[in-house]
Amino acid sequence: MKSSEISYRRQSFNILAKVSFQKDSLKNSFKKEILGIDNKQRIIAIKKTAYGVMQNKLFLEYALALKKTNPKVKIILLIATYELFFSRNKKHAIVNEACNLAKELKLNFAVGFINAKLRNLERPLKRLLNHLSFAEKLSIRYSYPQKLVDYLIDKFGQMAVVRFCIYFNKKPKLAVRVNKIKIETLNFNKIADTVDGYFAPDLLGIEKGEFFVQDIASQMACDALKPRAGDNILDCCSSPGGKLAAIASITGNKARITACDVSEVKIKKLEENIKRLGIKNVNLLKTDFLKFKLQTKELKFNKIILDAPCSGLGVLNKHVDAKYLDKDFKAFAKLQLEMLKRSADLLAVGGVLVYSVCTISQEETSDVITGFLKEFSEFTLEQEQKFIGFYFVKLLKS
Ligand SMILES: C[S@@+](CC[C@H](N)C(=O)[O-])C[C@H]1O[C@@H](n2cnc3c(N)ncnc32)[C@H](O)[C@@H]1O
Repeated sequence: MKSSEISYRRQSFNILAKVSFQKDSLKNSFKKEILGIDNKQRIIAIKKTAYGVMQNKLFLEYALALKKTNPKVKIILLIATYELFFSRNKKHAIVNEACNLAKELKLNFAVGFINAKLRNLERPLKRLLNHLSFAEKLSIRYSYPQKLVDYLIDKFGQMAVVRFCIYFNKKPKLAVRVNKIKIETLNFNKIADTVDGYFAPDLLGIEKGEFFVQDIASQMACDALKPRAGDNILDCCSSPGGKLAAIASITGNKARITACDVSEVKIKKLEENIKRLGIKNVNLLKTDFLKFKLQTKELKFNKIILDAPCSGLGVLNKHVDAKYLDKDFKAFAKLQLEMLKRSADLLAVGGVLVYSVCTISQEETSDVITGFLKEFSEFTLEQEQKFIGFYFVKLLKS
């Protein structure tokens, strides 16, 4: 069957089945599923559905209240329930298409069940969630694990958490940075034409390395480092290379950059990006940063950027399946403090250290920095920035 003949629901089903049965990430299985499709509307329909189901999984499961159900049938029901609550499609069409999908997948035994279940679904949200406590309501309505909601309420208070849940269930805003290595300015109208905020498969400018996607807060962290031509810079956790690209762009490839990452796969991704973006003057190292050592004659770095591994609460709108993973904030904080200590040792006196994480847990942000500054009195805090999903500090070594 040609991909144009397969329904977007079937393709969304394929993606969700891979995530569910093969434990593939949503992003990967989506990318594989849309390979070769050039119809943008279709790509958007698939993404909306697959990502929408994943983003609202707890709510949909709650609404469906399934007992033991065939896992494939469950996915069909999740897709249809998502459409019932979150799309403008007509109920009878949604139910029919769900039954057709079951037949297509040779699940004929379940057609009656699917039909009855969907027709009897209780639609008004209020009634569905009425008897739940405030925290339970948040957890179900916006599909965040109860443990995470309880943690966030405890740290930030109820209203902040409502804002958090709504914000991170929305499409992320797209920000790009011009790659000054390739071009001086960007025709923004051209980008606006081709980017709809969901997916941009045909962005020639990205392929040519003329610009790259980078959130404003991340861009600010790179600017805070004030990279200059002639600097000796260390990018401790570099892949996929967003911060590296910004530094290379600002300095016009005239800084010496050492970029390090522990993961083989991610180093490959980094190599691809370095090539595409025309980045030069980089010493790429596949190594655990905690074991990173200078060779005897090497000078210490005058600027270091430590964009540390973290719980990723600030990117849940991009990695919508990540919210269901258990997050051990304390374990991340321990690793981050170790990495800060390693950075402190590798930084020359008078040097600048920028620490950043795409999360908001107190353990991984202000607590880590307070702990570090207590131990390393030669460092002073020059700048601290807290964004809705991103945090960075600029530290100076005297
Ligand atoms: C937040 S991402 C970095 C993003 C990157 N700086 C950018 O701007 O595109 C964190 C990276 O740290 C890497 N990493 C995790 N543990 C590490 C370690 N012990 N040593 C070096 N890199 C590590 C991960 O592979 C991941 O690529």
